[in-house]
Amino acid sequence: MILAFGQQALAADAPPVRSAQTMWMLNCQGCHRADGGGTGSAVPPMPGIVARFLGVPGGREYLIRVPGVAASPLPDDSLAVLVNWMLKKFDPENIPGHFTPYTPEEVSSLRKLGAYGEEAGAIRVALMRSFVPVTSTVRLRDH
Ligand code: HEC
Repeated sequence: MILAFGQQALAADAPPVRSAQTMWMLNCQGCHRADGGGTGSAVPPMPGIVARFLGVPGGREYLIRVPGVAASPLPDDSLAVLVNWMLKKFDPENIPGHFTPYTPEEVSSLRKLGAYGEEAGAIRVALMRSFVPVTSTVRLRDH
């Protein structure tokens, strides 16, 4: 009993960064890899790219409605923490100055619109076409 209390106290004291990292390890990195680098053509890389979706219309919604997020077993509040962490972790330099972090309420309403299905890849390419071309390292995946 005392041990159980002790473990709960430890979990509650754990910094949010640590728990987001743990959620990433358990739920996402099997596909996205620990460093967000993805697996080549099947799972696209995040570094240098993922936060750029925040800068184009529909991109903020896209980041939540991709199947890995919207259809995740994780609850809305965990996903809000996780996606905010992911943006800072893998693409801090491209987070727009006007960015406001996702809240559990926003994640909840976007998830209610439904997870994308197979169209996710096409939506991704369309959004990337509207990225402002600031760097030559970002290439469209269908090219
Ligand atoms: C089964 C493999 C898989 C898992 C598990 C997965 N994803 Fe993904 N994710 C993908 C693929 C593939 C894409 C590209 C879009 C598409 O085709 O669905 C993607 C796209 C994304 C995107 C949009 C960024 C971009 O570059 O397109 C975000 C954000 C994202 N995933 C976050 C997560 C998070 C957070 C988790 C864990 C809760 C997660 N994913 C779990 C496969 C996965």
